Amino acid sequence: MTAEVLRLANLRKSFGSVSALKDASMTLREGEVVALLGDNGAGKSTLIKAISGVHPVDGGEIFVRGRKVSIRSARDAMDLGIETIHQDTSLAPDLSIARNLFLGREPVTLPFLGVFAPLDFTELRRAASALLKRVGISKNLNADALVNTLSGGERQSIAISRAMQFAAKVIILDEPTNNLGVEETHGVLRFVKEVRDAGHTVLFITHNIHHVFQVADRLVVMRHGEIVAEQVVADTDLLTVESIIMGADMSTLLGGSKNHAEAAG
Ligand SMILES: Nc1ncnc2c1ncn2[C@@H]1O[C@H](COP(=O)(O)OP(=O)(O)OP(=O)(O)O)[C@@H](O)[C@H]1O
Ligand SMILES: [Mg+2]
Repeated sequence: MTAEVLRLANLRKSFGSVSALKDASMTLREGEVVALLGDNGAGKSTLIKAISGVHPVDGGEIFVRGRKVSIRSARDAMDLGIETIHQDTSLAPDLSIARNLFLGREPVTLPFLGVFAPLDFTELRRAASALLKRVGISKNLNADALVNTLSGGERQSIAISRAMQFAAKVIILDEPTNNLGVEETHGVLRFVKEVRDAGHTVLFITHNIHHVFQVADRLVVMRHGEIVAEQVVADTDLLTVESIIMGADMSTLLGGSKNHAEAAG
């Protein structure tokens, strides 16, 4: 088994009277793709927002490579090597695709000038085009086009390309193939595999179980703020996963213990 990269222990989060996370625990290992499943409102986005510093948790602990960390902001998460693409993507609409792809990390011509160094637009354009091609969304997109001229799906592709480009250890995708066309969806799934093969860890939220069977090594199912099942994808099948998401009792399905956090730990 490969090394543990990220461990969540008993995360709790409430919004008023809604318990969005109830003692959620899970472990992500180096070089694996884990799919996070569950019905609408199950707590999936809340879980990844806790890891990415959007909503600090009310309780519980987060460990990165075995070390306890405090993630209070998006910057904290990025500094720990955790890159996240949220469901509602956050691009700068008035900047070009190329600028968005490298926001805050643009190549410069005179690096010794620090923050005053002029951007290297030639290199920026070249790198952006190469990245778009790699993700498989170069089709009709000009790296100089402004993001506010793009469709929702195209924007999603740009946001994903950006996260994948800088994924240090863990890359988290909240419904990355939502709104994407066939070719873009394949591009994202292929990229997820590439990132994994390069040794990174991917956690992705999806409602598409077929995608889980195409790219994920493990799957985790949430329901009402709790993690109710963890399975190795090769050891399960589509119907079983569907019934777990819909609320089947795991002990009947597997004939085993209901303590999945322990089983997976
Ligand atoms: N900012 C917020 N303020 C209040 N309630 C929230 C907030 N964010 C999430 N919730 C509530 O927490 C619960 C979990 O929401 P979450 O967005 O994590 O679900 P999800 O599993 O991502 O669902 P979906 O598949 O629809 O995206 C829901 O009941 C939701 O209404
Ligand atoms: Mg969500």
